[in-house]
Amino acid sequence: MPYTLTAGTGVVPCEPGRTVLEAFLRNGNWMPNSCNQGTCGTCKIKVLDGELDHRNSPEETLTADELAAGFVLACQATPRGDVVFETPATEESAGTHVLRDVVATVAEVRDIAADTRKVLLTADEPLEFSAGQYVEVTVPGTEIRRQYSLANPPSEAKQLELHIRRQPGGVASEWVFERIEVGERVAVTGPYGDFTFDPDGTGPIALLGGGTGLAPLEAIVRQALSLVPDRQILLYHGVRTCADLYDVDFLRELETRHPGFRYITCVSRESGGDHEGYVTDAFLEDVASAKEFTGYICGSEAFVEASVKAFKRRRMSPRRIRRERFTPAG
Ligand code: FES
Repeated sequence: MPYTLTAGTGVVPCEPGRTVLEAFLRNGNWMPNSCNQGTCGTCKIKVLDGELDHRNSPEETLTADELAAGFVLACQATPRGDVVFETPATEESAGTHVLRDVVATVAEVRDIAADTRKVLLTADEPLEFSAGQYVEVTVPGTEIRRQYSLANPPSEAKQLELHIRRQPGGVASEWVFERIEVGERVAVTGPYGDFTFDPDGTGPIALLGGGTGLAPLEAIVRQALSLVPDRQILLYHGVRTCADLYDVDFLRELETRHPGFRYITCVSRESGGDHEGYVTDAFLEDVASAKEFTGYICGSEAFVEASVKAFKRRRMSPRRIRRERFTPAG
C-alpha cells in the first residue's frame, strides 16, 4: 500500500522504500533537487506531520539542529507512513518533467578526448527533459547508478548523449571503457536536477564549463541557438591540456553559422587553446560588464566557486547565475 505524501497543493502516493523526492518527481510535482546524493542540501524540506527514515543523510548536509527542527533531505528520506511537508520553495525555471524509467540501447561509443568517451543511447520512448538536466544510468550487470548530464537538446528526446570521463578503478568507468557494446540495453532514470535552461529569455548568456562539465552546456547552447539564432552566447571550456578538449570542430562550426556565438577554449597547463589559463580569467578579460547576462556554470566545486566570483565581479545578478557541481564518480 503506498503512503500519501502532501506538500502544499501536491498530494502524491509513495511506495514504501522510495524516497520523498522520487515520489514527487515521478508524479510530476516539482520539488527542488540537484545532486540526488545527499550532498547539496537543495532538497531540504520541513516535516509538519509524519515519520521518515533519514537513511544516508550526512550531518554536513543536514545538521543536528535541522534534524531537531524537523527537516529532512527529500532525496534520501523514505516515509514510514503518511507525511505532510511544508510547501517546498519552488524555483522559477525548474524543470517540471515527470521522472521516469526508460530502457535505452547503446547506439554509439566514441573516444573524444583523453580518457573521455561520448556514449549515445537511444531510448525506447522519448524522455522529456530541460536542457541542463541529468539522468541516472544503471551500470549493466550491477545495481549501481551513475549520474550523467545530457549533452543533446530536449528536441532530441529519444537520444541521450553522455560525455564520460574515466575514473580509475570505477565500476562505471570499467563498463564504459572496457566492456560497453553497441546494442547493449541500459536502464535510465531521469530527468533530475534544477540546472535548467530558461527557454523564454533572449538576453546574452555566458557559460563556463570544466572538463566534461561541457555536456549540459552544449545542450543549453544548442537549444538557445535553435530558439534565437543570433543570440549573444559566450561558451568557455576549461581543460588542463589540449588533449582534453573535445567537440571543437562541432562548436567551431556552430560559430560560423551563428555570429552571436563565441566558443573559447581555455587550457591551463600548456599553450594551444584560445586562452592559456583559466576560464575565469578569460571571461574577466573578455567581458567588462555582465549585468545583462545570464550565467551557467558546470564543473567541480572549486570551478563553480571561482566562476560564481568571476560572474559577480562583472556584476551579473546572483539570481541569474545557475550552477551545477559535479563530483567525479567512478
Ligand atoms: Fe538532496 Fe542534493 S541533498 S538533492
